[in-house]
Amino acid sequence: MRVARLLLLPSLLMAGGVVMAADPAAIDWGKVPVANVGLFYPGQSSYEWLRSDAHKGAAKEVQRGDACVTCHDEKDAEKDLGDKLVKPGRLEPMPVAGKNGYVDLKVQAAYDEKNAYLRFQWKTRNPFPGSEHQYLRFDGHEWKVYGFPKLDKVVQDGKQPGIYEDRMSVMIDDGKVAGFAQQGCWLTCHDGQRDMPKLFTKEEVEANAMLKAIGKSDVRKYLPDSRTDPSDWKTGKTVEELAKIKAAGGFVDLMQWRAHRSNFVGMADDGYVLEWRLGDAGKDPFGGNADAKTHQPKFMWDEKKVGYKSITADQLRKGDHVLIRETNAVPFDPNAGWKEGDMVPDYILSREDAKGSAADNNAIGSWKDGQWTVVMIRPLGLSNADDKALKPGGVYHIGFAVHDDNITTRGHHVSFVRTLGLGTKADIQAVKLP
Ligand code: HEC
Repeated sequence: MRVARLLLLPSLLMAGGVVMAADPAAIDWGKVPVANVGLFYPGQSSYEWLRSDAHKGAAKEVQRGDACVTCHDEKDAEKDLGDKLVKPGRLEPMPVAGKNGYVDLKVQAAYDEKNAYLRFQWKTRNPFPGSEHQYLRFDGHEWKVYGFPKLDKVVQDGKQPGIYEDRMSVMIDDGKVAGFAQQGCWLTCHDGQRDMPKLFTKEEVEANAMLKAIGKSDVRKYLPDSRTDPSDWKTGKTVEELAKIKAAGGFVDLMQWRAHRSNFVGMADDGYVLEWRLGDAGKDPFGGNADAKTHQPKFMWDEKKVGYKSITADQLRKGDHVLIRETNAVPFDPNAGWKEGDMVPDYILSREDAKGSAADNNAIGSWKDGQWTVVMIRPLGLSNADDKALKPGGVYHIGFAVHDDNITTRGHHVSFVRTLGLGTKADIQAVKLP
């Protein structure tokens, strides 16, 4: 049984009363210009690698802040880079069998009095949408996570299936992050992070004052300015210094549309990058479904509504296997006669529980004939401390990434930085809607 998507159009249309918002589903996208953005697989081309002698003839130029495209400007540069980097080599120690090096992303943008609308289209490698995510599976004794991203050793060794949601991510700078206009997302990608060279150890993280202060147990994207030595994640500045940088706008916005954890409730999540890949204040539309202590699920499907309380592996990719608190979930019953192989989603979604700045971005995504079409809906003029405000007349530096075919972290396809202009000249020009 298909789960009805919670569409948010009524609230969007009515909010504010006088402020007019377009019905995003009714925008005539045929009239909006299409920008073709090449996305390539970046392997482990970190901030540090790009500044090293291994990046032959470019280390000095990248260090002084030159734009990547001053050199990588050939026709098909992205395709050539991606086709090479996806294969086993100096920048890919964990190649994913059969992965494509390149994705063609179509980008369109529009805005009205209330929102910006960013529309994306790309083809998936698989003949099905990546809308399923990890599960909790009962092994006869315990509930354990089932399904992992394809860069993980357990998947590459064939011990676990590759199961991970597709994603469409957008990073936005309003000119306040030094270097982003030239080097885009590569400012945030460093050695030491998950799936990167010189991977952090648990001990190093526990011994790190900044990560301890912000309560994090691994290393994720960060901006150079958050460290005293940008090439060493261990040199984090104090929380007071970081707060000052944030207040001065020295962070990038990060919107992520998630085919499982946000799309089914009509959203894209809202975060930012400064000293870590942080979520905005408030609450995301999703949370873990495993009880921290018992590791049992907290929710299962409501059998009365969907016809089952769990699925088994032979049901994978045969339906929208999503748990939504207000629509199709009931509290987990430990005595419901569970059998080995029973599975429930590892995450529980809720549109109602999503709150605050983290809940700013709506989205509509659908998959048809091998292609995702996603429209992100971003309110204009946001004034939250963790958002970049989009405004008519504004120009922004923007980077794109697609996670395709059951993968996370660096296993995405990424773009060189572009400009987005709202009614102003830019690589991607947002059109004012009538
Ligand atoms: C001064 C020119 C120049 C600049 C600026 C530059 N590159 Fe390069 N890049 C090169 C050259 C030349 C190569 C090929 C040399 C080699 O294979 O080591 C290369 C190789 C690469 C590779 C490896 C490709 C492979 O075949 O292994 C990646 C990835 C890359 N560049 C990304 C970037 C990114 C991202 C930026 C911006 C942050 C950037 N480059 C800036 C000139 C440049």
